[in-house]
Amino acid sequence: MGMSTDLKHRGNSHRNVSIILLLAAGLAVALTNGQDARSPGKPHVIIIMADDLGFDDVSFRGSNNFLTPNIDALAYSGVILNNLYTASMCTPSRSALLTGKYPINTGMQHYVIVNDQPWGLPQKEKTMAEIFRENGYYTSLLGKWHLGMSQRNFTPTQRGFDHHLGYLGAYVDYYDQTYQQNGKNYTRGHDFRLNLNVTHDQVGHYVTDVLSDAAVQLIEQHSSRNSSQPLFLLLSHLAPHAANDDDPMQAPAEELAKFEYIRNETHRYYAAMVSRLDRSVGQVIDALARQQMLQDSIVLFLSDNGGPTVGEHSTTASNYPLRGQKNSPWEGGLRSSAAIWSTEFERLGTVWKQQTYIGDLLPTLAAAAGITPDPDLHLDGMNLWPALKYGYESLEREIVHTIDTNPASPYLSYTRGKWKVVNGTTNAALFDGWLGERLTQEVDPRSANYEELIRNTSVWQHLQLLMGSQSERNISSLRQQAQIECPESSAATKPCLPLLAPCLFDIDADPCERNNLYEEYRNSTILLDLLQRIEQFARQAHAPNNKPEDPQCDPRFYHNEWTWWQDEQASGAGRLSSILIVFVCFWWIF
Ligand SMILES: *[C@@H]1O[C@H](CO)[C@@H](O)[C@H](O)[C@H]1NC(C)=O
Ligand SMILES: *[C@@H]1O[C@H](CO)[C@@H](O)[C@H](O)[C@H]1NC(C)=O
Ligand SMILES: *[C@@H]1O[C@H](CO)[C@@H](O)[C@H](O)[C@H]1NC(C)=O
Ligand SMILES: *[C@@H]1O[C@H](CO)[C@@H](O)[C@H](O)[C@H]1NC(C)=O
Ligand SMILES: *[C@@H]1O[C@H](CO)[C@@H](O)[C@H](O)[C@H]1NC(C)=O
Ligand SMILES: *[C@@H]1O[C@H](CO)[C@@H](O)[C@H](O)[C@H]1NC(C)=O
Ligand SMILES: *[C@@H]1O[C@H](CO)[C@@H](O)[C@H](O)[C@H]1NC(C)=O
Ligand SMILES: *[C@@H]1O[C@H](CO)[C@@H](O)[C@H](O)[C@H]1NC(C)=O
Repeated sequence: MGMSTDLKHRGNSHRNVSIILLLAAGLAVALTNGQDARSPGKPHVIIIMADDLGFDDVSFRGSNNFLTPNIDALAYSGVILNNLYTASMCTPSRSALLTGKYPINTGMQHYVIVNDQPWGLPQKEKTMAEIFRENGYYTSLLGKWHLGMSQRNFTPTQRGFDHHLGYLGAYVDYYDQTYQQNGKNYTRGHDFRLNLNVTHDQVGHYVTDVLSDAAVQLIEQHSSRNSSQPLFLLLSHLAPHAANDDDPMQAPAEELAKFEYIRNETHRYYAAMVSRLDRSVGQVIDALARQQMLQDSIVLFLSDNGGPTVGEHSTTASNYPLRGQKNSPWEGGLRSSAAIWSTEFERLGTVWKQQTYIGDLLPTLAAAAGITPDPDLHLDGMNLWPALKYGYESLEREIVHTIDTNPASPYLSYTRGKWKVVNGTTNAALFDGWLGERLTQEVDPRSANYEELIRNTSVWQHLQLLMGSQSERNISSLRQQAQIECPESSAATKPCLPLLAPCLFDIDADPCERNNLYEEYRNSTILLDLLQRIEQFARQAHAPNNKPEDPQCDPRFYHNEWTWWQDEQASGAGRLSSILIVFVCFWWIF
């Protein structure tokens, strides 16, 4: 199926040769006792990121509404990250992942980059991909970028990725990879590239499968081409983000057929979109196992932010039992259902409660690879590798989720240890409720034999083989431990209305943010200290990089493609001025 012509060519005409090479490689691996020639201490780093996946939309948290057996098998075999915090929207979250910094410190804090806006992650910021590349890694991004495209220099292959197949903007159609901007009259434009080149080979193919196939192909080629070089792969899925508003929910018919018991059509599509994503996780882990790369890999699964249950791009995602959703200051927007696996971990098959920030992943994964990021980068992220490796969970983490000073709706969300401060909110408080549900009326028939289903996955089987001396884990006990318990409201519960006054929560006791402790703690040193800290971050914040739309982006000027229009305009203007110069010279001479 269509990758680059280059890759397709290899795939078709050299299949027999590849098989022989694979056999030879397998023999070589067997002869060297399962060790590849990769430099010691540099694991492959495989990050699989979902887009807008709800906190409760993976079944390892206990929902039987629709199952995600591959993600669950990874979670139970590895370490469930029960307190991984992202930003509440795509652009800030991805900027924090790739820079290890709070969005307020890079100017990426406000909203997202809309496709027609000429801004991006500032050039001076060093990305995780650059750091890994400088340390000998082959770096690949498959899928979504969303950190700027108005200039060529903003795009992934100019920001540390050796390779990119995917889209530059916010989202695309799952089948034709076009983006139609809401509320504007731009022509619908195609947005899919291999490195810097537009590619239409994927049109007609479901993009979750396109990206999975590309990941599998990359892993196979990587292993046959140069086993001494470690791989850094960010598989950045579209799923289960909604596509364009004229056809937001899209899934292959055979995937939908598994969810006929779900009567609500939107929700049936959502289940199928998540299920196809789950299949992708299985395909990637299978490919790593086939290529003997799995034992030397760190595999991380996460979502970029919480799911949108209501409002723009809502998909029926559920962040149950948490409050809020995508694009809000609440736990439902900020907590990601995530799991990580590596043979390095001493306590595989556990739920890790350590508060972790998405920006911690850069220094943490770098440490796993023996890389110490330059202290001059002034990362906000912390290296949690030793804690993760040995299973400690007692570090007090401070996390600035956001301080958004936009006058239209200023808000802040900040955590230190168990304390969380929220002041102001988004969207006139429309996203402030407990929006998601756990549906129990409609049950995935596979849940009758849930444990057997998990044990039957190839993911489970591959990871069990690499488990070493650790004992078999108790699936139902882990599933129970990954549930979030929220106390019922009582007469003493004080509501939080963040447009009227700031709120304080004890997130350990009250992860659902029902009981506002602000009044009770009003004069306490702890609260005054938190407010002072927030004030300090606010003072030092980078001004937001947001820029208003530029209609010159309209794909109708560029063969119906979304492109780096500012460069195109500059070279167009360049052509225009040379024509003018020629004209002036002509006029002068005659
Ligand atoms: C789009 O074009 C239509 C018809 O030309 C016009 O009525 C409408 O106001 C335009 N919308 C925007 C957002 O420019
Ligand atoms: C991109 O296009 C250029 C010019 O058409 C071509 O030389 C180059 O090989 C292409 N690169 C890839 C990766 O397809
Ligand atoms: C293989 O990887 C090593 C180490 O990263 C690198 O120096 C070398 O150039 C690579 N060789 C090929 C053929 O890609
Ligand atoms: C499906 O569920 C969504 C979200 O709850 C709701 O908005 C929509 O009306 C439902 N559709 C049907 C056909 O019932
Ligand atoms: C809360 O937000 C309001 C409105 O922006 C602001 O006036 C107030 O100073 C903020 N309070 C705190 C404690 O940050
Ligand atoms: C697990 O696999 C076995 C052997 O293939 C099969 O008989 C069984 O039905 C499977 N169970 C489930 C729950 O999928
Ligand atoms: C697994 O844990 C549950 C409690 O969560 C317990 O009831 C069950 O006996 C355990 N099973 C095994 C095999 O240890
Ligand atoms: C906080 O201090 C103010 C002024 O000193 C006082 O009026 C108020 O009662 C105190 N509140 C609490 C909850 O102690």
